[in-house]
Amino acid sequence: MAASGPTVVLSSGYKMPLLGLGTSQGAIVKPKPKEVLDSVKVAIDAGYRHIDTAWVYKNEKEVGQAIKEKIAEGKIKREDVFVTTKLFLTFHRPEHVHESMMQSLGSLGLDYVDLYLIHNPMCLKYGTNPSEIFQPIGKIEDLYDDVDYVDTWKAMESLVDEGLAKSIGVSNFNRQQLERLLQNCRIKPAVNQVELHPYLAEQDLVDFSKDNGIHLTAYSPLGSPGHHSKRDADPVLLEDPSVAAIAKKSGKSSAQVLLRYHLDRGVSVIPKSMTPNRIQANFDIMDFSLSQEDLATLGGLDRKLRYVGGSDFTTHKYFPY
Ligand SMILES: NC(=O)c1ccc[n+]([C@@H]2O[C@H](COP(=O)([O-])OP(=O)(O)OC[C@H]3O[C@@H](n4cnc5c(N)ncnc54)[C@H](OP(=O)(O)O)[C@@H]3O)[C@@H](O)[C@H]2O)c1
Repeated sequence: MAASGPTVVLSSGYKMPLLGLGTSQGAIVKPKPKEVLDSVKVAIDAGYRHIDTAWVYKNEKEVGQAIKEKIAEGKIKREDVFVTTKLFLTFHRPEHVHESMMQSLGSLGLDYVDLYLIHNPMCLKYGTNPSEIFQPIGKIEDLYDDVDYVDTWKAMESLVDEGLAKSIGVSNFNRQQLERLLQNCRIKPAVNQVELHPYLAEQDLVDFSKDNGIHLTAYSPLGSPGHHSKRDADPVLLEDPSVAAIAKKSGKSSAQVLLRYHLDRGVSVIPKSMTPNRIQANFDIMDFSLSQEDLATLGGLDRKLRYVGGSDFTTHKYFPY
């Protein structure tokens, strides 16, 4: 496998590159298809070998097309690139899990994904249009469905048996939800993808995951500037003076320090960018590391601030935060 940067071996036995490209930013600010296609191609040229998408991002087709073009150019082989996609909240009923997987594989133009995640422990009614979810017309509770994520997980395990997903995992699960899954699973979740950055350190979750062989992936590592759920009063992570001081001392940018922080914590990270020079710069973090002192400084910035997803569906029985 050319490039890729550092990797982790998941509990499934498969290797995952620690740095990947995110491809969407929230439900409302969606990159245009051509931007996604181009950004994935730029990322592969820059050395990325891990791409994160989801059914709900509606860009699996462009992600797959970019990979296909790079394979045709001889730049990569299919097995060189680690592709993650996600089961949306409306497909949790066990009888819909396979259907959703096949839709995603069809859009991606792939025979298998490297990682398939339950996007969220909460289930919503099958067939609900995602645009209705994020801008509900009536009561949000009318969209809820009562499906136990343990039952969804059992259907996810069947996808591994069928060879459709090499590894399976979850996203936005809290510690108690992971414990329940661990007690009730045949295949344990390889990954939990959650929001993580110095303002949301989640040290307990990091420690619990490490102790139980569940790898953590950090989303919104730059504080998701521009995300629709951002509140005006929120501090801007990329402008934090302590991060800027570490960046200056290291000869790097604040964004590069924020990304390197995860690698030095044993966490993988999936920054999103549609801007070629940022995509390249975000990958250029393999030639430095943060000292214990820098990590302690960043650890001291924790303020349990969630930029994304903390305010939707708070009344759902499986609301994780
Ligand atoms: N599992 C989940 O529930 C979940 C939730 C949220 C996100 N995710 C995944 O995680 C990925 C990343 O999260 P995110 O998109 O919310 O947030 P993010 O990666 O923290 O931030 C993305 C934003 O930062 C900008 N940016 C990128 N590199 C930069 C740099 N070097 N300097 C300054 N600004 C920079 C991007 O702008 P440009 O694009 O204009 O360059 C974009 O506006 C998503 O794309 C998605 O794949 C998953």
